[in-house]
Amino acid sequence: MEQIKNYIDGKWIDSRSGETFPSINPARKDEVVGVVARSREEDIEDAVKAARGAYEGWRLFPAPRRGEILFRAAEMLLKNKEALGRLETREMGKILPEGLGDVQEAIDMGYYMAGEGRRLSGETVPSELPDKDMKSIRIPIGVFGLITPWNFPIAIPAWKVFPALICGNTVVFKPSSETSACAAKFVEILAEAGLPKGVLNLVHGPGGEIGELLATHPGVDAVSFTGSFDVGSRLEGICGSIHRPIVTEMGGKNIILVMEDADVDLAVEGALWGGFGTSGQRCTAASRIGVHKKIYDAFTEKFRTAASRLRVGDGLKKGVDMGPVVNESQLKKVLKYIEIGKEEGATLILGGKIYDEGECSKGYFVEPTIFTEVTPEMRIAREEIFGPVACVIKTEDLRDAIRIANETPYGLSSAIYTRNVNDTAVAERDLDFGIVYVNASTIGAEIQLPFGGIKRSGYGRKEAGGRGGALDTYSRWKVIYRDFSGRLQKAQIDR
Ligand code: UN1
Repeated sequence: MEQIKNYIDGKWIDSRSGETFPSINPARKDEVVGVVARSREEDIEDAVKAARGAYEGWRLFPAPRRGEILFRAAEMLLKNKEALGRLETREMGKILPEGLGDVQEAIDMGYYMAGEGRRLSGETVPSELPDKDMKSIRIPIGVFGLITPWNFPIAIPAWKVFPALICGNTVVFKPSSETSACAAKFVEILAEAGLPKGVLNLVHGPGGEIGELLATHPGVDAVSFTGSFDVGSRLEGICGSIHRPIVTEMGGKNIILVMEDADVDLAVEGALWGGFGTSGQRCTAASRIGVHKKIYDAFTEKFRTAASRLRVGDGLKKGVDMGPVVNESQLKKVLKYIEIGKEEGATLILGGKIYDEGECSKGYFVEPTIFTEVTPEMRIAREEIFGPVACVIKTEDLRDAIRIANETPYGLSSAIYTRNVNDTAVAERDLDFGIVYVNASTIGAEIQLPFGGIKRSGYGRKEAGGRGGALDTYSRWKVIYRDFSGRLQKAQIDR
């Protein structure tokens, strides 16, 4: 049985208490993927101490050389892509092609941030005074507490760890307890790539307790969190009160708008991918589809037929389109929302039940589920379900579609399918989301642009991307004025 340990100050160690918890394959509950060190306050203490201790050395280590280590890590991720992808499928259920995509996103981020080691640029601008120069430079923030979810077990840690490290911060990383094995492999690769001890530390345990201890620890300087709105907004409150920078990426209630002139087959493909990819467990999942009344019946029929053909099963099996949900509580939550949808009067046209054919009885599988006649006030149209449930809403015209799209407490990702170029311009401008896709689904963000939402979807700076994105999240600006005139010069006054 694989032992998944903490990684503190360059050593793989058990938690101080020696306690453990299992990491389970959601496609077969009887398969334990690993036995994980269960951390408590004292382990967090050790990890933060190690990160603090390593900070001076790492801060002063030249950024291009930090980049070389990141580059090596990206190369090693690439070499291990297949094995890591398989591990993801076993640990959280996404189908293998998606697991491989997740690892690829981490590789992309590794190469991208490695290159930033030779840029990390600020500005130099002229002074209004003679013999004086001025510039802005990026400096690290200090020790970062990074808290990550299970739905992108390697990509999201990479989104945070790579930019945090290239900017010169040290890190205590607390992954979701659902995906401890993936996190440990990722850290193992970074350690092997040559990170000095203490620069990246890993602790395992439940988010509610360990995540919060980490985020509020006096030795931590800043926090980056991806996960639920409830936990994220609580951490925002606490961090705000202690003046600690925090960035949160939280839920979504994303929408695909299908206009009357859309390529309906293309939109159906987008809705399938957005609604049922990763079993709907992406913060960018398309859980709402707003369809123009003139093509509503044609679209829903095609969508139902296509979704009914999705093959559900263990994501390691060839030909499977959709894996399980991550665990029992997620399964119960999804089933609860299906009941709510029925009670609210939406029409269930597909699925709605646990899927337990054959081998699937061993895991947490739900049928791909579609509701039609959904109205914007219904809870299933407003609350994040995080499962394979798509809600189809009828729209009158572009203006109505955009109004419905925006009528949600979340604002992460949106999409419009239309052939009308003017309508795309209006949608780009008026959709109140961090991301707008045109003739593409709500998922598919690339790492070289910032990622993040508004309203309940996120707070603070953005993930991914460079300037305006991750580099601004993981570094802070310092401004330097140098006067080499040898006399007192007064800005704004000497003219
Ligand atoms: C998430 O859903 O938590 O665009 C992140 C996408 C991925 C990232 C999603 N590249 O769906």
